[in-house]
Amino acid sequence: MTVREILKMGDPRLLRQAQAIAQFKTPELLQGIEDMKETMLAAHGAGLAAPQIGWDVQLVIFGTGQVIPRYPDAAPIPMTVLINPTITPLSAEEQNDWEGCLSVPGLRAVVPRWQSIRYTGFDENGNVIDRTAEGFHAKVVQHECDHLMGILYPQRIRDFANFGFNSVLFPELAPEKSA
Ligand code: NI
Repeated sequence: MTVREILKMGDPRLLRQAQAIAQFKTPELLQGIEDMKETMLAAHGAGLAAPQIGWDVQLVIFGTGQVIPRYPDAAPIPMTVLINPTITPLSAEEQNDWEGCLSVPGLRAVVPRWQSIRYTGFDENGNVIDRTAEGFHAKVVQHECDHLMGILYPQRIRDFANFGFNSVLFPELAPEKSA
């Protein structure tokens, strides 16, 4: 396993429409996923999308093994590999909450996301994933899948008064998980 470099905002590779994956369980796919897991762990991330390491495929990973300080009531998210995902909102209700990104280090903003979603796709072996999610879990999935469409969270900010540096906005908190 290799910790890969995480691309930062401004790199044009973060702005591509990612390619669908046609074959599961290939050595290249499995190796890439292992690298992504290692990279996310090293960066203390809650999620990582393949384009963030310059890999132009529709693949995201996410999961939290523990409670996150800013979201103490959020249930842990199982470690998930999600390929060729689709997201469907289950209601028009939105939630506005703080969000960060490993490709936009040090910053945080309030971003609107669907409160409740259904997401589908495949794992690395081609097994179907079909889940509903709410709150923090739904937010992470939407953030990661945005990366596959070349969208970084600053593009979704509605009120730039709520965009700033972590160290200024939340000086009392330890560095947090980003995605
Ligand atoms: Ni991100």
